[in-house]
This record gives sequence, structure tokens and C-alpha cells, in this order.
Amino acid sequence: MQIILATSNKGKVKEIRSLFEEDEVIPFSEILGPMEIEENGSTFAENALIKARTIFGKLGRDDVIVISDDSGITVPALNGEPGIYSARYAGKGATDRDNLNRLVEELRKKGLKEAPAFYTAAIAIVAPGAEYVVHGWMYGRVIDTPRGEGGFGYDPMFIPEGFDQTLGELDPAVKKELSHRSKALALAKPIIEMLKARSVR
Ligand code: IMP
Repeated sequence: MQIILATSNKGKVKEIRSLFEEDEVIPFSEILGPMEIEENGSTFAENALIKARTIFGKLGRDDVIVISDDSGITVPALNGEPGIYSARYAGKGATDRDNLNRLVEELRKKGLKEAPAFYTAAIAIVAPGAEYVVHGWMYGRVIDTPRGEGGFGYDPMFIPEGFDQTLGELDPAVKKELSHRSKALALAKPIIEMLKARSVR
């Protein structure tokens, strides 16, 4: 049974692969080529489902499990921004650095050196006759002076609760332990195992 990821984001692919080491985990683009999927939902869960359903439909196979992740960072002091717009906060086609710079700018505009923030990950799982969405969250704060080169996206400006260093500075093992995606994937794992067992009957 192949697990197809409805994402091409290298950071996410790496994190998801490391949690499903015994499975064949393939980004959809390796099978279908590059494809734009319009994420027009109003929640992380809706967008995750849109992505997984679209890829499942395009594959047209009943021997695969499709997993998608829709994630982002929310800053309550900025009215919940960037939230579901995290990937396009600095505009369509923005890089991770552009988006991080925009968030730094928005904090500074409000005179905030730091602010409470949290990451959300919604993982959708779509297989023949079955659809699931699970969530995970990681709480902490964002700072207006990014530090470190580790992780991806907003990690250099995010300090998890209970730490003084950013995710850009901390050992990747710390993020693997704490992350929103790890927590959601821990919930997704038994669902995927169940779907795999069903497929061999
Ligand atoms: P998506 O690919 O549409 O789900 O967009 C996710 C956005 O949230 C991207 O801009 C990522 O950089 C950001 N993001 C999600 N998870 C993380 C994370 O673990 N670290 C840093 N940024 C993240």
C-alpha cells in the first residue's frame, strides 16, 4: 500500500517520512507532476480535505492512502493572522522568507517585540470509502528578531513554550517531539494502520 502525500513542501515531506519509515511515502508530484490545487476552504481542516480529495480523485486508484497536511501559524494579537494564509502571507508565490519577513513587519508595526502564537496542523486522510481529519497544535511565542537556520517557514521566529531558543536554533529532535504536525500524525498513524490492514483482506 502506497501512502501518497498531497504536498510537495520538502520540509513537510521530510517530517512525514520520518514518522512512517516502514512505508513507501511518495509526494503526489512524483506521480502526477506539478499541480496547483486551489485551497479555498475557510479552515485548516477544509483545506486539508480539499487537497487530499483532489489528489485521491486524480489518482483514481483504490490501492492508495492519500495524506495531506494544511498548516500554519496563528498570532492572536494580529487578529489571528496569518492563520490559513500562512503560505501566502506576503502574496501569491511568496517564499518562506518573504512570509516570515511580513510577520516580523506586522509585529513591529504594532510595537510588539514578541507575542503568543501557535502552529496548527490539520491532517486529512482519504482512502476508498473513508475520510478523516485530525489536528495537532504547538503553542509558544513569536519574536520580531528571527534566529537560527533550522526548520523551515516561520521556525526562526517561533519559540515553543518552555524554551528560550527558536525552532531555527533548537535541535530538530525537539521539534519532532513537540510539533503540531507530529501530534496530528500521531493521531493519523492508527487510522492509517487500520486502513492498511483493511486493504489486505
Ligand atoms: P500549507 O502548505 O498551505 O499548509 O502552508 C503552510 C504554511 O505554514 C507555510 O507557509 C509554512 O511555512 C507554514 N508552516 C506550517 N508548518 C510549519 C512549521 O512546522 N514550521 C514553520 N512554518 C510552518
